[in-house]
Amino acid sequence: MLLDKDIEKVLFSQEEIDTKIKEIAEQINKEYQGKEVILVGILKGSFAFMSKLIEYIDLYCSIDFIVCSSYVGTKSTGLIHIDSDMKVNAEGKDVILIEDIVDTGLTVSAIKDVVTKRGASSVKIASLLHKPCNNKYHVVPDWYAFEIGNEFVVGFGLDYNQLYRNLPYIGVLKPDIYTKQNN
Ligand code: IMP
Ligand code: MG
Repeated sequence: MLLDKDIEKVLFSQEEIDTKIKEIAEQINKEYQGKEVILVGILKGSFAFMSKLIEYIDLYCSIDFIVCSSYVGTKSTGLIHIDSDMKVNAEGKDVILIEDIVDTGLTVSAIKDVVTKRGASSVKIASLLHKPCNNKYHVVPDWYAFEIGNEFVVGFGLDYNQLYRNLPYIGVLKPDIYTKQNN
């Protein structure tokens, strides 16, 4: 692939990602058996995880999205902004927030609060990645595929300045890519 040359190392292959996502879906299927759920993807980063996850979800579920942003480049701004809200009414419903990565935990904790205040009967978090070293908001995803260390990763939905989301695996960028200003 054209983008491979910018990657220092592959952390998780397409096959490993698929296997883990299937395991998460099986746990969700068991936990919500007989219930209807709302799956809410936090865009943009969650789109690849979510589309793979729903292939294995065997429940009646509606799909919705929240578009929000917290990051500029590789640094958290400490604020989240809801650019576009979910449309399905969460009141009295079981909601699963789908995230690409829980880093400081700001994004999911802020959105979880919002959805809880709207009267959801439960709100849980499924994240592709969990980066516990920066977890200021003490959020542990209810389900996650992989835990990572203090590194900036791209691929399978995760971006660096909006690029690399289309990599079919998760990898670490070569440092010279993100130390160069604007690439
Ligand atoms: P949090 O609000 O600090 O938990 O950050 C969550 C958001 O930051 C994610 O949805 C990502 O968009 C972004 N993010 C955090 N770490 C990384 C990373 O290593 N690579 C790409 N995006 C990241
Ligand atoms: Mg991002």
